[in-house]
Amino acid sequence: MFKLNRVTEYGLIALRHISRKKDKDPTGMTSAREIADTYGLPFEITAKTLQRLKETGLIESAHGAKGGYTLHRSLDEIPYFTEVFGNAASRNHEFGWTAEAAVEKARQQVAHLIGATEREIIFTSGATESNNLAITGVAEMYKQKGNHIITSSIEHKAVLDTCHALEQKGFEVTFVPVDQYGQVSAAAVKAAITPKTILVSIMSANNEIGTINPIAEIGKVCKEKGVLFHTDAVQAAGKTPLNVDAMGIDLLSLTAHKIYGPKGVGALYVRRKNPRVRVAAIQHGGGHERGMRSGTLNVPGIVGFGKAAELAEQLMATEMPRIQKMRDRFWGALQAELDEIYLNGHPTERLANNLNVSFAFVEGESLMMGMKELAVSSGSACTSASLEPSYVLKNIGVGEDLAHTSIRFSLGRFTTDEEVDYAIRKVIETVKKLRDLSPLYEMAKEGIDLKSVNWTAH
Ligand SMILES: Cc1ncc(COP(=O)(O)O)c(C=O)c1O
Repeated sequence: MFKLNRVTEYGLIALRHISRKKDKDPTGMTSAREIADTYGLPFEITAKTLQRLKETGLIESAHGAKGGYTLHRSLDEIPYFTEVFGNAASRNHEFGWTAEAAVEKARQQVAHLIGATEREIIFTSGATESNNLAITGVAEMYKQKGNHIITSSIEHKAVLDTCHALEQKGFEVTFVPVDQYGQVSAAAVKAAITPKTILVSIMSANNEIGTINPIAEIGKVCKEKGVLFHTDAVQAAGKTPLNVDAMGIDLLSLTAHKIYGPKGVGALYVRRKNPRVRVAAIQHGGGHERGMRSGTLNVPGIVGFGKAAELAEQLMATEMPRIQKMRDRFWGALQAELDEIYLNGHPTERLANNLNVSFAFVEGESLMMGMKELAVSSGSACTSASLEPSYVLKNIGVGEDLAHTSIRFSLGRFTTDEEVDYAIRKVIETVKKLRDLSPLYEMAKEGIDLKSVNWTAH
């Protein structure tokens, strides 16, 4: 008989404990202390064992008073890595049937989140692929009807670059501008539609500034004009209610990792009725997913995606108000202590979890370095050697200087009030420290109009 070493034994005990806890309460966390006390294990070794489990990717952690450890993968998807090896497309043996049944369940769970039917869900490798398939697939399929596509100037690159690639192939694309909050109006879309328009692609909510678009109004305009409507709903899914029928959506992109599911799996909703939408395949092969997306399905990923979609739907009504309250408290506290800070994106029509702020006179990258323990993003994108300001901020009229001072904070299911308190203290302290070192901030405070200064180069 073989004997487990201590770390392995503690690891198995810890995994079993964490799994049971997650089964009872999907948002619950487990601490090393709880496991050590429950099973009478030495705390130090238990804590180290949990750290090792985290490194393997089996569990993940969150800081703060309500923090601790939880399973990285949902309980439902684990058997499809370890026990059920079947290919969902193999219909002539039992292993295949088990995998197929699991995929079909996930298809229902994902469909339910957006008010669709399961036959309208095509699984993909993520939203980049879904956006490519939706836009290129429609363009190819309907090119006899017209060659004009409408999108907005602040879409995700997976939409913008797909449209640019189609321009190279002779399609015409209108990039409708957005207002100062990053919203696309239905009127602007309507005005851009021509007899040659075959597709409108407008995101449900923006990933950088969190602004939510009037999707139902845009859907209505598209229906009236007989134009297909695609929306990249990656950021909105699980955070705002989505219903493809009520909102007049014909194609919709999703990705699992934005709703706490696994990475590398996504879906494209393709309407089957009123009208029946057809999409030309961009990837050819065995004809999976009703011929629209060939390739063996990622069964464990899809099962995890299904579970994540089900949980996102269940938890949305309680989680979003909780997250919004924390976000608003965060923003209120920053405003109370700091001057010259500006909110980017819509003040009310925005995702509950997003806060994008410009801290004038503070370089975003320096701010990030000063508060390394907070995982935030800056308003600049590192492209080769230069720091480019975000195209989203540029398009809503944020000047280049201010764009470089911008930071996006995202709150989530595992964010606690204590972490928000910590972040408030840390941001205020770091911004004040950096401004104390900034001659520009000092000059501005002395009332000098920086635009009137005649800078000379030495
Ligand atoms: C709005 C939006 N669309 C598309 C994507 C791409 O998704 P994926 O990483 O699944 O390809 C993202 C990713 O973050 C996103 O935020």
